[in-house]
Amino acid sequence: MKVLLIGSGGREHALAWKLAQSPKLTTLFAAPGNPGIAEHAELLPLNVEDHAAVLNFCRENAIDLVIVGPEGPLVAGLADVLRDAGVATFGPSAAAAQLEGSKGFTKDLCARYNIPTGAYRRFTSAEEAKAYASKQGAPIVIKADGLAAGKGVTVAMELDEALAAIDDCFSGAFGAAGAEVVVEAFLDGEEASFFCLSDGKTALPLATAQDHKRVGDGDTGPNTGGMGAYSPAPVMTPEMVERTMKEIIEPTIRGMAESGHPFTGVFFAGLMITAKGPELIEYNVRFGDPECQVLMMRLSSDLLPILHAAATGTLDQVSAEWNDDVALTVVMASKGYPAAFDKNTPIGALPDTAQDEKVFHAGTALKDGQLVATGGRVLNVTATGRTVAEAQARAYALVDRIDWPNGFCRRDIGWQAIKREQA
Ligand code: AMP
Ligand code: GLY
Repeated sequence: MKVLLIGSGGREHALAWKLAQSPKLTTLFAAPGNPGIAEHAELLPLNVEDHAAVLNFCRENAIDLVIVGPEGPLVAGLADVLRDAGVATFGPSAAAAQLEGSKGFTKDLCARYNIPTGAYRRFTSAEEAKAYASKQGAPIVIKADGLAAGKGVTVAMELDEALAAIDDCFSGAFGAAGAEVVVEAFLDGEEASFFCLSDGKTALPLATAQDHKRVGDGDTGPNTGGMGAYSPAPVMTPEMVERTMKEIIEPTIRGMAESGHPFTGVFFAGLMITAKGPELIEYNVRFGDPECQVLMMRLSSDLLPILHAAATGTLDQVSAEWNDDVALTVVMASKGYPAAFDKNTPIGALPDTAQDEKVFHAGTALKDGQLVATGGRVLNVTATGRTVAEAQARAYALVDRIDWPNGFCRRDIGWQAIKREQA
């Protein structure tokens, strides 16, 4: 099979690394890719915003499957253009990608299908939103409706903070994404991420993970795209997974199909496990980054036929097997991230790794043969172990062998699960 992978992050490096192990793969292309992805794929100078150019490439090269990594091209409708032209594509249509692109859209679907989630209202005026938030009282959650690079959510423990967040949204802090605001009840519990494939009608549950969104140890400091993750998430017991499938994923698949926008791709459900059970915080319509890295480390099945089945409506014919070991990844970021950071700082030769360890590239580039850091999140240092504590110790041992003076990382990835292991 000839495959085109779209994206350039650690997530796409993990997908490329796993796809490259498939006996069914003949050629892997990636656009735009990165130096890690280049170990497994031929990188293309394709502009992925130019949908016609991507389609042209697929036609000229008889591509059998396109896998879209990030949400941007999905929300922009790349999967629609490719699928309409008969190219098998893993990733939802623009209409189905509203599950990530519009929080209000998802909340309305939850309301129609009785999917457990925080009570909410949608607003297009600051005055009404503030009146509602004041009536509900703190703690309360304020969300810009659209994509705001993970920054559009304020979990307000005090009412003043909620009112200020509403003003921020409507005064344009998140551009068009904040023209509508969702005010939502605060959910109390432990967060977990659940990944599940859909071909529009059938679901194939994948695995669970937990992320670390804050930049600093002890979950302090500003939010980031994610500073580390592990899989599985111990809070997602078999009972919680079963309830998530029945109460959240299955009605979503039904709801999307009934609304005329069947969902093809991966559901990345952000859940809060409350005293009542799993409740939906949000959907993403792509693999998590860095959650994908730990999922790929644990997947023992061939990834390629599974993604191809999701793209072609034959998901009922495949299964996914998982290694019981824990996988844990530590994100190394440029000093200063998530605020301003220096670019093009040099990274020394990466250490050799064992078979169950891997350093995935995110924001890296090669400049005159030298590996340099070009992004905020740069390397995903990943290891496995029988316990979270063991995976963590191995991942940090690998971190300590990396020669990148301008890099930093959290030193406590996995702390919640390790506390559980020690209890
Ligand atoms: P989101 O961008 O929707 O994932 O929200 C970012 C983070 O805000 C989530 O990962 C949660 O930690 C938190 N959050 C969002 N919605 C709620 C809620 N209703 N109750 C409590 N925390 C929330
Ligand atoms: N790590 C969180 C995300 O991919 O959105």
